[in-house]
Amino acid sequence: MTDHKAAQDRPDMNPWLFFRRWLANPREVGSVTPSSPALKRRLTQEIVRAPDEYVVELGGGTGAITRGILERGVPADRLYVIEINHEMAQHLRDIFPGIHVIEGDARRLTEILPPQVVGKVGTTLCGIPMMLLTIEEQQAIVDSAYSVMPKGRQIVLYTYALASPLPRDKLGLAGRRVGFVPANIPPASVWAYRQGKAG
Ligand SMILES: C[S@@+](CC[C@H](N)C(=O)[O-])C[C@H]1O[C@@H](n2cnc3c(N)ncnc32)[C@H](O)[C@@H]1O
Repeated sequence: MTDHKAAQDRPDMNPWLFFRRWLANPREVGSVTPSSPALKRRLTQEIVRAPDEYVVELGGGTGAITRGILERGVPADRLYVIEINHEMAQHLRDIFPGIHVIEGDARRLTEILPPQVVGKVGTTLCGIPMMLLTIEEQQAIVDSAYSVMPKGRQIVLYTYALASPLPRDKLGLAGRRVGFVPANIPPASVWAYRQGKAG
């Protein structure tokens, strides 16, 4: 099967595009293969959104999680996907015509999201490989995400590690593992974080 044909059949899993981007920038992409349908389902269970709120996905990649967000019933026009890589962002626009794809850096959400979305993000799902980042980079992404959400809302992310992918004390977060997905390759855990230390 050609790459083009594979992309048509499973465009959100486009493994060749994903693998090529990983080869080009392993630190930014973090994984050699897109998230599985099982991980997509578990991660998107954590979505909380009032009718007038939005969902933001950081690091959309080829769209495996994006597809899950839409399958959870989030209207396409209430979904903003932030993707730093041009080719991935274009791919997301091609396969999900109704959603908002912003080619940009997750550290700059207040600048790149439209003003009406800032403060109205119910949940932020994060596919960026946070464990590979420096503490300063992690802090910048976490601060950016909380700055566009009402108080008390969560950043939800997945990791292949056993421990928390974010250093909770250093970042001032309360977080816990909310799920484990053995069927993903490799097996993954889902973590949810709020601002403030666990009390
Ligand atoms: C592991 S992939 C996740 C893809 C997809 N969400 C999935 O689970 O299959 C990480 C993605 O995050 C993107 N990314 C990395 N750093 C970013 C940043 N600072 N802002 C926005 N996107 C970023 C990469 O280009 C890559 O597409």
